[in-house]
Amino acid sequence: MIKIFVANWKMQKSYSQTIKWCIKNNKELAELSHRKNIIICPSFESIAKVQTLLNKNINIGAQDCSAFEKGAYTGQVSAISLREIGINYCLIGHSETKINITNTDNLNNSISEKYFLLIKNNIKPIICIGETQEEREKNITYDILKHQIDMIINKIKKEEIKINELIIAYEPIWAIGTGKVPKPEELNNTLIGIKKYINSILSDIELTILYGGSINLDNIEEFKNMGILNGFLLGNSSLDFQLFKKIVLLSISA
Ligand code: PGA
Repeated sequence: MIKIFVANWKMQKSYSQTIKWCIKNNKELAELSHRKNIIICPSFESIAKVQTLLNKNINIGAQDCSAFEKGAYTGQVSAISLREIGINYCLIGHSETKINITNTDNLNNSISEKYFLLIKNNIKPIICIGETQEEREKNITYDILKHQIDMIINKIKKEEIKINELIIAYEPIWAIGTGKVPKPEELNNTLIGIKKYINSILSDIELTILYGGSINLDNIEEFKNMGILNGFLLGNSSLDFQLFKKIVLLSISA
């Protein structure tokens, strides 16, 4: 069942544009958020202001956090600070935060560090996973996704960390911002694979699965009734409130 909508604003809105958006749309957004869990992820500098402008029912998320607890890490933002300002969700592993990092194992490790720092600070991580176009063409999507998942769930197992919930956002990299989406059947099979794999390692967990990548008004109908999906992560389609609202309402209508 569709219950979550994450708006990932990336660096698309400036500080003043963000303020205008919040003032203009707060009331309607608050109404929407009574029906579904809406999580708005503005850029870091706008978070505190957005918190003051939006209704308290609307969750505010961060787009990333540091893999380090504290220290000499210029330009980074710690999970501790996010907790202190009242953030309750944080994206990790988004492909756009991986740009220029070439060692994949270091990268996946750093995502698992972020995961544990967020859990420790009572922030729900939204773990983004996805394959590139090249990996898809080589037919290794499933192996890539498994590897990305392993870095986190093996550690949960090994360190016997008690978690009740895992939120996975499947975002094929080739679909982000490109207008391309997987065929519903292909997506369904991939999500079933992800779910089976996670459940084979962590059986008693509430798994929330989101899809992200070029969701728009033209394709939402194809995905909204997919039983395995619990929500959507929207980039471009979350910037214009009326468009975002239409997508939310369409995906929760019968
Ligand atoms: P998009 O972005 O909806 O613009 O493809 C999704 C994302 O990057 O999370």
